[in-house]
Amino acid sequence: MSFIRKLTEKAKETFKKSTNSSTVEGSRSNIRESDVAPPPLPSKSKTSASAPPPAAGRSSVQTRKVLVKGDKHATIKKKRYDLSDFHIDRTLGTGSFGRVHLVRLKSTGNFYAMKVLIKHEVVKMKQVEHTINERDILMRLDYPFLVELLGTMQDASNLYFVLEFVQGGELFTFLRRSGRFRNNVALFYAGEVILAFEYLHNRDIIYRDLKPENLLIDSEGHIKITDFGFAKEVPDVTWTLCGTPDYLAPEIIQSKGYGRAVDWWALGILIYEMIAGHPPFYDDDHFKLYEKILACKPKFPSHFDPNAKDLNGVEDIKRHAWFGDLDWQALEDCQIPAPYLPPCGKDGDASNFDVYDENHEPYGGPGPDPHKISLGTFKNWEGMSRGYGLEGTSFSILV
Ligand SMILES: Nc1ncnc2c1ncn2[C@@H]1O[C@H](COP(=O)(O)OP(=O)(O)OP(=O)(O)O)[C@@H](O)[C@H]1O
Ligand SMILES: [Mg+2]
Repeated sequence: MSFIRKLTEKAKETFKKSTNSSTVEGSRSNIRESDVAPPPLPSKSKTSASAPPPAAGRSSVQTRKVLVKGDKHATIKKKRYDLSDFHIDRTLGTGSFGRVHLVRLKSTGNFYAMKVLIKHEVVKMKQVEHTINERDILMRLDYPFLVELLGTMQDASNLYFVLEFVQGGELFTFLRRSGRFRNNVALFYAGEVILAFEYLHNRDIIYRDLKPENLLIDSEGHIKITDFGFAKEVPDVTWTLCGTPDYLAPEIIQSKGYGRAVDWWALGILIYEMIAGHPPFYDDDHFKLYEKILACKPKFPSHFDPNAKDLNGVEDIKRHAWFGDLDWQALEDCQIPAPYLPPCGKDGDASNFDVYDENHEPYGGPGPDPHKISLGTFKNWEGMSRGYGLEGTSFSILV
């Protein structure tokens, strides 16, 4: 059996296992330069023998309940909020440094998602800069397919990001439950991701962590990209090794300087995974996985639309035959009906998310903050312009 076939079989097996479990398991953790040694590179001969990656074949306006970001024209009431203004509800997802909760603003009853990062974990894993980037970049964003940050706060132990609550759950869950997507479904989600990446790249921001776990589906069926933990403003090249192994571009693995093309590589991986039901390169052993990525010979299942095999660069991508006569403007305006409407109950219904254990340290406790200096630049956004102070636990929401 050829190695690719073995790979495909193995990937299928692994993904079948996760699909069969009662909750959808198997979401992949990502890697960060400071917590892993650079991957051992496969021998040069193998690398040089490998074919170049297929050109980029990898990789409403919402009515906002809450307006933020210093809207100068807003005449609505401003109020400072702190942790005690929120009722903290169940966990929606867990991440490397904490978890994301469903929360409710007590005064209005509106629901949000609150990402809690444990300061000592962030510092221990040398992710201070990434975390500052996450906040600073999220603050600047305003696009239908990107999650909206409403505000950040901190106390002695944790950093808190208050985000819009995206009710439909992870694309990952929907994909594993479906097995694989029909061509037109994959095309719809890929199209929204492309527009979101175009928006980010136009601002010199690369995202660096595309995967179905970080794509949420809103109640209308549209994509919201979450988790800007690796997003970075990069006008030219950067070198940091970070991302999720299955989705890493060869130039990241090779520790070469890289740019926004890594997001297009990851898009190719995503499209493959949506259509095939498993990623093109898969191995439990990261060394072997990286060898496969560098060799870059994915096997396409027979049902794979040939047009989906060679997407390249944003303008090329948008004009590519796979998208046929897709009306990109209509897609951006959310005028194209979503292929799937997640079952969303009333506001705050989180049944589209897996259930997690709720054992975590209580939030908001008093105490000394040993990370005051290292995380000093993590500011509450209104704090920067209004001088509320670095360690304040307040931010402003316009309600
Ligand atoms: N705005 C949101 N609405 C609903 N759920 C969310 C939201 N943001 C994140 N989540 C859930 O929480 C999970 C973890 O969030 P996120 O990926 O931002 O954390 P992380 O610590 O950066 O994770 P990791 O580093 O492991 O990728 C997401 O996969 C998703 O299930
Ligand atoms: Mg994530």
